[in-house]
Amino acid sequence: MRKNIVAGNWKMNNDLPQTEALITDLKNQNQTSHAEVMIAPSFTNLWHAFEALRQNTIEVVAQNMHFAEKGAYTGEVSASMLKSIGVKTVILGHSERRAYFNETDASLAKKVDAALANGLRVIFCFGEELSDRKSGNEEGVVGGQIQNALFHLGADAFKNIVLAYEPVWAIGTGETASPEQAQDMHAFIRKTLADKYGANIADEVSILYGGSVKPNNAKEIFSKPDVDGGLIGGASLNAEDFFAIVNAF
Ligand code: G3P
Repeated sequence: MRKNIVAGNWKMNNDLPQTEALITDLKNQNQTSHAEVMIAPSFTNLWHAFEALRQNTIEVVAQNMHFAEKGAYTGEVSASMLKSIGVKTVILGHSERRAYFNETDASLAKKVDAALANGLRVIFCFGEELSDRKSGNEEGVVGGQIQNALFHLGADAFKNIVLAYEPVWAIGTGETASPEQAQDMHAFIRKTLADKYGANIADEVSILYGGSVKPNNAKEIFSKPDVDGGLIGGASLNAEDFFAIVNAF
C-alpha cells in the first residue's frame, strides 16, 4: 500500500555506543510525522536498535541480505536470520552494493525472491550513473534495472515492495536531483509499472527518492506527486536533520 516513507540508511557508520547515542537523540525528536519512519543500522547494531526502539514507531530495517536460506556463505546474513530478530524490511540493490560487491539485476532478483518468500518487505534501490544521464539514457537504464530484477514477479508481490530511485551521481555528492528531475523519473517508473501490471498496482507502490536529501530540499522534493518519501544517507546520521526531513511532509 502506498505510504509516505522516510528511511535512514546509516551505511557503514556508528559502532554500538554511537548507535545508542543516535537512537537516544532520535527518541527525543518530535515524532508527530505524516510518514513511516525507518532506520537501517549495520548488522552488528540491528538487535540493539530493535530492542531500543521496541516501544517506538521507528522501524529498524536491514541494509542487505543474502539470497540463500543458510549454508557456506561466510560473512553473509539470511532473510530468516533477520526475521528472527524482528526485522521486517530489507534494503536491496543499493548502488554501493552494485558497484563494490558486483551485485547484478539477476543476483538481486534472487535476493528479492528470498526476502518476499520470508515475508520481508523490500526497499529496492536503482538509479543511473551520471554518464547515463548525460547521454540521455537514464530511463533506459532505470527501466532495465526494474524490469530485470522485478518483472518476473506477480502483481501481488508489489504489496511488499517499496521502490527507491537513487541517481548515483546524487548519492553523497550534495548534487541533489532537482524536484522536477525526481518527479519526471518517478512518473516514468510508475508508468513502467502500470504498463506491466496496470494502474491500480502502480498507484499503490511507494517510490522514494534518494541522493543528497537534506532539511533544506526535502519539502520541495516530497511535494511532487509521484515522490512518496526519501531514502536518506548522510543526513540520517544526525537526529535533528533526519527528523527535519521526516517532518517535511
Ligand atoms: O541510501 C541512501 C543514500 O544512498 C543517499 O545518501 O548521503 O546522498 O543522502 P546521501
